[in-house]
Amino acid sequence: MNDNDLQQRISEAIRNPKNMGEMEAADAVGAVGNSQCGEMLRMWVKFKEENGKKVIDRATFQSFGCETAIAVASLATEMIRGKTIEEALSLTGEELSGDLGPLPPMKIHCSQLVEGALRSALEPAAPSTVPAPAAQPANSSLLENFTQPVQPSGGLRIVMLDEKKAS
Ligand code: FES
Repeated sequence: MNDNDLQQRISEAIRNPKNMGEMEAADAVGAVGNSQCGEMLRMWVKFKEENGKKVIDRATFQSFGCETAIAVASLATEMIRGKTIEEALSLTGEELSGDLGPLPPMKIHCSQLVEGALRSALEPAAPSTVPAPAAQPANSSLLENFTQPVQPSGGLRIVMLDEKKAS
């Protein structure tokens, strides 16, 4: 796929982005930032019971600016509907990019940002981990989350992706 094809797919995905915006009464929320490009992304998730399993009912996101991250988040929030937490956590940034196809090296971190936000939201809710920290106030904005100090217990934990070792 050449750059024009990719840009066209990204443009199509963001023309009518799915699941964009804050979610009221979400069961889980996560956020990540990338200090290199300044992009930030927050994701909300709502669960439901289906056939005796806890699955993702829906997910929404909020992002500043980056078209690729918005396109991936739009596709990813559709893709994870109906999946268990474990199934969603097993998806890589590349898989979450879905129909966009393989991203060029300089755009891979955009899909990793979406993967990171999803992990930030879902890992505390995963059955094998400790209980999730208290939910953040529903009226706090994404910018406020990123300008407030990270709290060691409770509140929203923001993960700066470039501080993590590449897996
Ligand atoms: Fe950094 Fe897209 S340019 S997330």
